[in-house]
Amino acid sequence: MESTVQHSMICSLAWLLALSTLLALPELSCGSTTRRYKFDIRLQNVTRLCRTRSIVTVNGKFPGPKIMAREGDRVVVKVVNHVTNNVTIHWHGVRQLRTGWYDGPAYVTQCPIRTGQSFVYNFTIVGQRGTLFWHAHISWMRATLYGPIVILPKRGVPYPFPKPYKEIPVIFGEWFNVDPEAIIAQALRTGAGPNISDAYTINGLPGPLYNCSKKDTFELKVKPGKTYLLRMINAALNDELFFSIANHTLTVVDVDAVYVKPFEADIVHIAPGQTTNVLLHTKPSPPDATFLMAARPYATGSGTFDNTTTAGLLVYLPPNASSSSSHVKNLALFRPTLPALNDTAYTTNYTGKLRSLASAQFPANVPKTVERRFYFTVGLGTSPCAKNQTCQGPNGTKFAASVNNISFALPTSAALLQAHYFGQTKGVYDTDFPDTPPFPFNYTGTPPNDTFVTNATKVVVLPFNTSVELVMQDTSIQGAESHPLHLHGFNFFVVGTGFGNYDPSKDPRRFNLADPIERNTVGVPVGGWVAIRFLADNPGVWFMHCHLEVHTSWGLRMAWVVNDGWLPNQKLVPPPSDLPRC
Ligand code: C2O
Repeated sequence: MESTVQHSMICSLAWLLALSTLLALPELSCGSTTRRYKFDIRLQNVTRLCRTRSIVTVNGKFPGPKIMAREGDRVVVKVVNHVTNNVTIHWHGVRQLRTGWYDGPAYVTQCPIRTGQSFVYNFTIVGQRGTLFWHAHISWMRATLYGPIVILPKRGVPYPFPKPYKEIPVIFGEWFNVDPEAIIAQALRTGAGPNISDAYTINGLPGPLYNCSKKDTFELKVKPGKTYLLRMINAALNDELFFSIANHTLTVVDVDAVYVKPFEADIVHIAPGQTTNVLLHTKPSPPDATFLMAARPYATGSGTFDNTTTAGLLVYLPPNASSSSSHVKNLALFRPTLPALNDTAYTTNYTGKLRSLASAQFPANVPKTVERRFYFTVGLGTSPCAKNQTCQGPNGTKFAASVNNISFALPTSAALLQAHYFGQTKGVYDTDFPDTPPFPFNYTGTPPNDTFVTNATKVVVLPFNTSVELVMQDTSIQGAESHPLHLHGFNFFVVGTGFGNYDPSKDPRRFNLADPIERNTVGVPVGGWVAIRFLADNPGVWFMHCHLEVHTSWGLRMAWVVNDGWLPNQKLVPPPSDLPRC
């Protein structure tokens, strides 16, 4: 519920000294601060759209509490499970250097925390600053279990952009009128696509464009002539989003806790698993108007999706007023224009503007040589319907999804990381995940007749410090679709992207090795491909999956095993004693 911040004595003294002498604080004199949190997982009645549901929350809050830290801090979170569902918490985008035990994906790095049990997550945030988020990482529990992670620069280190007057998290979510666990359970049983959400939310609030929702509207109250930092997070389950504020231009400065070359955008595109920090410069004098900020999906698949719009209000406070409620009503209201729901041209243009700072202080350490190359198809497929069952997926089959035609099955008897660490992998996973698609076809052309996937638990094993290039290729099986792919344990550089099939003889010539964007979640474009590079410098077992939760559920997921290096500081730390058992 509350956080206790413990500064080391040295840090506080150094800080006082710096203040009293007006000296900049030397970066290294300020030692480790530990930020402690307690997450009680419990039920809470929450009403949205005139319906009350008992939802699983952290500390009764929806969205959940904000984690605040500075780069270099240690974060310790005790999670206690008081509900009947199994839970785990993932610190999305936190690199977890050598601390993979605390990464969170169920059956990958840990077994679930069961009712009445607890687990203490304990990790240090190294070399990252910006916004990330935490969310449950089991089944669809993250529908209500999510919250922001704010990482400030080290004390005394400025942002590489004008200091904002205020910083505000803007977290997008998806609201379901029924229990999302029931939705995914039914979908997996019948083989059909899951029911869609009933609303999108901004900071847990659907906003005035839905029935019975006006009072549940996020209001951003601002003063004129100031700069605000909006820390945007897409925590929606299954939908990429466009976001815009009427009559205001945003400056993008950071994505996935990595600074970028600033650029202006009227509309931001943000996929599930991605975060985007933007500067909002308010008008120099209070305009006699109120401005809607709105988000609605960017969708490319052939299935149904929630095509509604969530909105909040940007409200200018009169010069010396403290509250605005009576003021708003008489003002003109402006609405932003958002791209069409399938506007791939906008998305492509927008993501093409994202570049690393690539400065002396914030270099882009792109692997310049590649030791291992991989070509993975990502996309949908089918599984046969069990005998004496009727299925509601394509042609009476069940929907599935895969990477290189493998629909990844999670183990049940042990988490992958335990199996790896204790050398007991037999019967848990195999190490022959294919480097290339098992049967080549025209991936973005007419799909093959046989679209069945293979169910298996296979991983790629990498020696410590391997430099990796991975090309992910969308397929048109059951319809082409963009897939936001998320890699745990690493940031990667997006060195190239394109439409159609990747051509290894031509496309690498156009790769950007100078200032490619560095991030943890990247969109594989609909009917296209993306090439990423990363250095496997973090020992452990690292999940990679589509951050559209339905695709993860269908098997669009796999894992990388990175072995320990020789040096003591290249090895995974030993497992904690309270690690849950399967
Ligand atoms: Cu945000 Cu594996 O997840």
